[in-house]
Amino acid sequence: MTAKLLNGKELAQKKREQLKSDVEALTEHHRQPGLAVILVGEDPASTTYVRSKQKACEQAGIYSVLIKKDDTISEEELLAEIDRLNEDPKIDGILVQLPIPKHISEQAVIERIHPDKDVDGFHPINIGKMMTGEETFLPCTPYGVVEMLKEAKIEIAGKHAVIVGRSNIVGKPVGQLLLNENATVTYCHSRTKNLREMTKQADILIVAIGRPNFIEAADVKPGAVVVDVGINRVDGKLCGDVDFEGVKEVASHLTPVPGGVGPMTITMLLENTVQSARKRV
Ligand code: GUN
Repeated sequence: MTAKLLNGKELAQKKREQLKSDVEALTEHHRQPGLAVILVGEDPASTTYVRSKQKACEQAGIYSVLIKKDDTISEEELLAEIDRLNEDPKIDGILVQLPIPKHISEQAVIERIHPDKDVDGFHPINIGKMMTGEETFLPCTPYGVVEMLKEAKIEIAGKHAVIVGRSNIVGKPVGQLLLNENATVTYCHSRTKNLREMTKQADILIVAIGRPNFIEAADVKPGAVVVDVGINRVDGKLCGDVDFEGVKEVASHLTPVPGGVGPMTITMLLENTVQSARKRV
């Protein structure tokens, strides 16, 4: 079997075109949607991600501001910056790029962003709403994963979804969104015993563990849908958490890296920002 590729780049492009016209209409009739991104320090990966987010905003016609802070900034100063953005009427979404320096509490920062501007969907109020299935901002990567599955008309209800990884950004919320779509969900992580026995039982396998080529063909049930959320750099080349060449011979569907989940994450951030602006009209 050769897996069908789930092309995130193509879907992201299609969605961004729709968003562009939504933004045009909002800008014309009301006000331009606005996103503020705070970058603390100069981590190269974070700098690259933030640049991509800004470029995507620009292309969609969304007003964006980048606030760069030195990594010596105090927690108090960072929280004061968030307070200012919470009050800024031009700003619909606030994103603090993670990770942040260790001397600042990540949770304090996340909780300071007003839930109505939390386009990352990380605030406990929004996580709670996601769990109860209320409408809210959904975390961008998990939201993008579910959108890709729906676009490919992959049935989720009744399927066994196995999640490898339990981060607050991807693993935990993607399991919750699949549960909301009536999947049966198993979470695996670094302390899971017989992890590879679990992954072999998955109809839908989501891998977000941050280890290059961790999932191999032998770990995948023939015909499974495999979503690779990993972005690793090996010898200067990007690769996911899934051994693409091996797994594509076993899976029915597979996301490439790059060009799979990555472009969807930013698209869903734009979508959340536009949704936020619409609510504020
Ligand atoms: N760092 C890595 N992914 C993300 C994300 O989705 N949002 C934020 N704020 N930081 C990140």
